[in-house]
Amino acid sequence: MIPEIFKALVVHSTSEVHHELRIAGKSIRDLPAGDVLIQVMYSSLNYKDALSATGNRGVTRTYPHTPGIDAAGIVAESSHSAFVSGDPVLVTGYDLGMNTSGGFGRYVRVPADWVVKLPENLSLKESMIYGTAGFTASLSVQKIVEHGLTPDSGDILVTGATGGVGSLAVSILSKIGYSVTAATGKTDQNDFLRSLGAKTVISRADIADNSERPLLKARWAGVVDTVGGDILASALKSTFQRAPITCCGNVASPTFAATVYPFILRGITLYGIDSASTPMTLRQKIWRKIAGEWKISHLALLHTEIPLEGLEHAIERMLSGRQRGRVIVNLAN
Ligand SMILES: NC(=O)c1ccc[n+]([C@@H]2O[C@H](COP(=O)([O-])OP(=O)(O)OC[C@H]3O[C@@H](n4cnc5c(N)ncnc54)[C@H](OP(=O)(O)O)[C@@H]3O)[C@@H](O)[C@H]2O)c1
Repeated sequence: MIPEIFKALVVHSTSEVHHELRIAGKSIRDLPAGDVLIQVMYSSLNYKDALSATGNRGVTRTYPHTPGIDAAGIVAESSHSAFVSGDPVLVTGYDLGMNTSGGFGRYVRVPADWVVKLPENLSLKESMIYGTAGFTASLSVQKIVEHGLTPDSGDILVTGATGGVGSLAVSILSKIGYSVTAATGKTDQNDFLRSLGAKTVISRADIADNSERPLLKARWAGVVDTVGGDILASALKSTFQRAPITCCGNVASPTFAATVYPFILRGITLYGIDSASTPMTLRQKIWRKIAGEWKISHLALLHTEIPLEGLEHAIERMLSGRQRGRVIVNLAN
């Protein structure tokens, strides 16, 4: 039976400085219109949620608001023929958790064309260990593969390697045979990154170059960058001819200084990754890969599970750059 009131994290914010997180009851009737009502079993914490939960108006315009850009659960009600009650499903991205009440509540209501049927060989919980971070890592890996890099092409650099996107990119690339160099700012995470499959672990400081030099020694066959800023700028200058570089994040900085030289002298390609609006056909294809040939065996190593009540602390950790792997939120209990 669908309850009238459900439990959710609600952010009250009057500015980016003044915000407060409360666990509260919300009415099902206050959820936005949509074809599919989902009882959320698991959600996960992504960087965008941390921004939404701290009043960032670039992510969420109006408060009170329930963040959570990821949700996995069971269809409770559907007015669309593609879904029936009881279907296990997942939603990542689109407007979920931004200006649509998100997965940090026990129910979400969304348009049917945001909903992905849970692929075979993946549980609801596993789907949230990947979540948007794993989906984004997988879109980045897909670009590297489609670009034509093969495991013998050379080393692939992954930046922000202990973070959600980074740790999953290290894991998937290693799983499918690529030689991965993991760059991290955490001096004590060598063993963790090696256990995910990284062949080499280097310090973030070793790859950030502040010189004015237009090109640096070529080291990388390809790059999955999750942080932006100087690190992305340096990576662009440090690749082999015709290398692919993917760019998805801005935790170091949203801006970076670049010249045309890596593009016109080494023929590099910079790919932007935008997971939230990925078309449904590609979305389904990537989720099938996540559950199939790219599925990693060490998901337990990669995540911490918390209740809704644990989110405030986890958000603080993420915003201070201390996050390791993924945080999933259990809403089933
Ligand atoms: N475009 C998309 O579709 C999309 C989707 C998902 C996420 N993102 C973006 O991707 C980025 C990473 O997301 P995430 O979920 O992986 O976040 P996360 O779990 O917080 O990981 C970020 C990692 O970046 C590194 N880092 C933190 N502060 C840094 C700094 N000042 N300079 C350099 N590196 C720093 C840290 O790893 P180390 O200590 O190991 O270096 C940290 O663990 C975020 O900007 C997020 O918004 C984009």
